[in-house]
Amino acid sequence: MKSTLLLVAAAAALFGPATGAGFDGIPGDYCKVRHPTCCPSRDDDCTAPILGNHLCYCDMFCDRADGGDCCPDFKETCIGLRPAPSTATGDCSYNGVQFREGEEVKQNCQNCRCTNNRWECGAQKTCLIQEDLLERVGKGRYTWTARNYTNFWGKSLEDGIKFRLGTLFPEQSVQNMNEILIKPRELPASFDARTKWPDYIHPIRDQGDCGSSWAFSTTSTSADRLAIMSEGKLNENVSPQQLLSCNQHRQRGCEGGYLDRAWWYIRKLGVVSDECYPYDSGRTQVPGECQIPKAQYRRAEGLTCPSPSSNNKIYKMTPPYRVSDKEEDIMTEIMTNGPVQATFVVHEDFFMYSGGVYENTDLARNKGPSYTGEGYHSVRLIGWGEDDSTGRPVKYWLAANSWGPAWGENGFFRILRGDNHCEIESFIIGAWGKGSKRRRRRFKIRKMRRRRMRKL
Ligand SMILES: *[C@@H]1O[C@H](CO)[C@@H](O)[C@H](O)[C@H]1NC(C)=O
Repeated sequence: MKSTLLLVAAAAALFGPATGAGFDGIPGDYCKVRHPTCCPSRDDDCTAPILGNHLCYCDMFCDRADGGDCCPDFKETCIGLRPAPSTATGDCSYNGVQFREGEEVKQNCQNCRCTNNRWECGAQKTCLIQEDLLERVGKGRYTWTARNYTNFWGKSLEDGIKFRLGTLFPEQSVQNMNEILIKPRELPASFDARTKWPDYIHPIRDQGDCGSSWAFSTTSTSADRLAIMSEGKLNENVSPQQLLSCNQHRQRGCEGGYLDRAWWYIRKLGVVSDECYPYDSGRTQVPGECQIPKAQYRRAEGLTCPSPSSNNKIYKMTPPYRVSDKEEDIMTEIMTNGPVQATFVVHEDFFMYSGGVYENTDLARNKGPSYTGEGYHSVRLIGWGEDDSTGRPVKYWLAANSWGPAWGENGFFRILRGDNHCEIESFIIGAWGKGSKRRRRRFKIRKMRRRRMRKL
């Protein structure tokens, strides 16, 4: 594994653009006087002081297209340290296999071709699974661990952001929502909605290769809350596919959606069960055509399920509301009414999360102006707690992701709580299921208020 890394790094070093743009031409010895002089892969401690209190790098990672923080003597000192090409066979080997001139092989997310007995890997792409990041998270003292995922391996970070997330920046749309007033109540140190409502919290889903978290988080939050509020009378997975395919106006389907528009759809028209309209876009990568035309909603016999199902019931929600970003308000809301929808920024290390309490490590160095290693994602928050496994208490939110049960902690993850980490507390949304007693009461209050306001 390590030699592969070195090879890729060496290939990148050879064929990448000019290095050290930032420090180029500054005289003096930097890498040359280090012990060890240079480091074979990414090592953020592999630095030398330069220009007063600045640092330049002597690791193979500084030598990237968007970089510019190599020491000025990096090239002459470190590039010579790559494995020398053995003259007869060349060094086009990968995973112990020798390749011939002109042959191509995929090395993680890069397509490399053996050219002049060297790997030439084209434009530098950041991969979704980064070996050196896995290694560093493993070695460092973090509150979480990282691991390799087979279904992410070979994909680029850009594709991950495009097809595994899918919530468009919520600021304006969510801020238009009404914020509700939360009456404080006593809160336990930990809470898990699955314990309080064992039959009403729906299982982990997999959005596949489609940026549809906007549809998944909205339908799964709806499904949980419908079940909780109807005390199990309405207990179905509701269809993210219908949202994705039928709520296409001013949405971007598998390239993301706005949450307020998704909630608007469920409120106005409603969605069917998942069994009636099953999910397919994870495979096709496109939202597809809507299989339930609006006219069907008015038919006496009800609508026709795209997939044979005895249940063509329509599930609706009340208008969504915002919960403040106060930790206690969010906790109170979850404990009282059920899981909430949360939106947060996903950084590149999150894809590799394996377990523990996630906190962005910022191990992704070299964030140039063209850096796009993050995007918005929405999930269900189902509880909270405090983790003591690292020797100090770390408060966390318990969240359900939509990347299948094999990711993270059986599809769930925990993330730092109380710090608005990655903006997780900024955009909390809830809604009530239609048909619940609570909603009717609330609805009456709203109507009364509206009438009073009109009189004024
Ligand atoms: C990650 O998993 C893929 C597929 O299982 C494998 O080919 C690859 O070598 C693994 N990478 C690392 C760094 O373990």
